[in-house]
Amino acid sequence: MKKVVIITGASRGFGELIAKKFQKENFQVIATMRNINSCPSLKKLNNVDIKKLDVTLKSDIKNVIDFTIKKYNRIDVLINNAGYGAFGFLEEASDEEIRNQFNVNYFGLIDCIKGVLPQMRKQKDGVIVNISSIAGRFGLPFTSLYNSSKFAVEGLTECLHYELSLFGIDIKTVAPGSFRTGFHDSINFTEDEKKRGFRCRKRKSKKSP
Ligand SMILES: NC(=O)c1ccc[n+]([C@@H]2O[C@H](COP(=O)([O-])OP(=O)(O)OC[C@H]3O[C@@H](n4cnc5c(N)ncnc54)[C@H](OP(=O)(O)O)[C@@H]3O)[C@@H](O)[C@H]2O)c1
Repeated sequence: MKKVVIITGASRGFGELIAKKFQKENFQVIATMRNINSCPSLKKLNNVDIKKLDVTLKSDIKNVIDFTIKKYNRIDVLINNAGYGAFGFLEEASDEEIRNQFNVNYFGLIDCIKGVLPQMRKQKDGVIVNISSIAGRFGLPFTSLYNSSKFAVEGLTECLHYELSLFGIDIKTVAPGSFRTGFHDSINFTEDEKKRGFRCRKRKSKKSP
C-alpha cells in the first residue's frame, strides 16, 4: 500500500518540487493549492490528486482531509509548505496585513496540523514537516512580520515534538535559506512601502574616483 502525503501550497516553488519528489518516491500525493489549475505539470502525473486548499479556510482543510481518508484511509505525511512574506516597517503595516501574515504562515499551519492529527493518532504513526525559514532563527530589519511568523512556527514545532511523540507522531521543521522560487515575487510590501517604491529603488552606483 502506498504511503499518503498531503502538501500545502503545491502550485509552485518548493511545494511543487516536494510533490514531484514524493511522487517519484512512489507516494500517493495529495497536492493542494488555492487554484487547482495553477500547476498543469502535476496534473499529468500518476498517483497525484490535485485538491483545492486555501490554508485560511477551515472548510477547505476539512474537505481535503475527508477526501484523503475516504479514498486512502490513511495520512502518513503532512508537509505544511504554504506561506509568503509580508515585508516593510511594522508601523506601516495595516491590521489586515499583519493578521493575514499570521493567518497564512501560522494559524493556517496549525489548522492543517489539527486536521491530520486524529487520523495520525489512530494510526499511531505519521510525520509532519513544517517549512519554516532561516528567518525563524534570527531577526532582520523590515521583516518583523515574516520572521515572527516563522519564529512562531519554530516554537510551535519544538513544543509539539514532545507532545506528539507520545502518540508515535514525528514533527520537524525545515528552515531554508534564500532560494529563487516565486517567493520573492510574491512578497507583500506594506502599502506605504509600495508608495515609496521600495521595490524599485535602485542604488546609484558610485563612480570610481
Ligand atoms: N524561497 C525562499 O527563499 C524561502 C526561504 C525560506 C523559507 N521559505 C518558505 O518556503 C515555503 C514555500 O515558499 P516558496 O519559496 O516555494 O514560494 P512560492 O514559490 O511563492 O510558493 C508559495 C506557495 O504558497 C502558496 N500559498 C500562499 N498563500 C496561501 C494560502 N493562503 N493557502 C494556500 N497556499 C498558499 C502559494 O500559492 P498560490 O500559487 O496560490 O499563490 C504557493 O503555492 C513558504 O512557507 C516560505 O515561507 C522560502
